[in-house]
Amino acid sequence: MVRDITIMPGLDKAGVRENFSVITLCAGETVSIVGPTGSGKTAFITDIELLAQGDTSTRRRVLLNGEVPDDEVRNNPSLKPIAMITQKTKCFADLTAEEFLQIHARARGIKNFGIVGDTIELANKFTGEKITAESRVTILSGGQTRSLMIADAILIGAAPVILLDEIENAGIFKQEVLRIIHDSGKIVIFVTHDPVIALLTKKRIIMEHGSVKMVLYRSESEVRAAQNLLELDNRVSVIRENLRAGKTITKDLLAVNFY
Ligand SMILES: Nc1ncnc2c1ncn2[C@@H]1O[C@H](COP(=O)(O)OP(=O)(O)OP(=O)(O)O)[C@@H](O)[C@H]1O
Ligand SMILES: [Mg+2]
Repeated sequence: MVRDITIMPGLDKAGVRENFSVITLCAGETVSIVGPTGSGKTAFITDIELLAQGDTSTRRRVLLNGEVPDDEVRNNPSLKPIAMITQKTKCFADLTAEEFLQIHARARGIKNFGIVGDTIELANKFTGEKITAESRVTILSGGQTRSLMIADAILIGAAPVILLDEIENAGIFKQEVLRIIHDSGKIVIFVTHDPVIALLTKKRIIMEHGSVKMVLYRSESEVRAAQNLLELDNRVSVIRENLRAGKTITKDLLAVNFY
């Protein structure tokens, strides 16, 4: 069980110590990491993925439940309580989606293979391009691959910590991912440039020059802004899906009061 993760400060890109004492993320927390390109967002979650012990370029250390994790937990992927999905995540095995998930389920000691169908069904909630049991994982699109990996991390990996690096640009229904992942009892960290995701998390970590600049908590006015933004985002999604389907955008089709 992962109750919490603690991140201890490291050094910024210039080698200056980071200006926080510790950051603790508890089970059930959803956090976003924001900051300019190159500011160290991916490096921050990679430290968590690796359970860094002062041995990465940032020199941070990461504790699980307040303790230094065992080497076995750090090095054995099947024991690792952390799943990281990036834009580069790709499956290399020449298997069908069903075979791929069955192998993972078996490795996790799961006897109920019904979970394979459930995982494909969940993945299909995240992507408009349907994945079937027979789809070969090597030829899935980027959006399909990430959808399958997120569903796999939630159901089969049952990872208590999920790290998502810029999933918004991946042809994924991010609001579905957020809805399902919220209240899952997991620690979920979104690296994001997307204001919808950033405003839907209560906690926001701001990065600059390779270090944590500050940790912010969402304010009441931001909660209201998030609601408006969600509505706007839904409208944009309708336009996007229609454009992708080759339709032209008319006032009637959308009944959107943009004009
Ligand atoms: N504290 C640090 N010390 C040394 N190098 C760092 C530090 N933080 C980040 N870097 C390095 O800086 C580069 C950019 O960082 P990173 O890829 O994490 O940025 P990013 O915020 O994810 O950018 P993008 O938004 O473009 O994805 C990487 O090569 C990374 O290893
Ligand atoms: Mg990055």
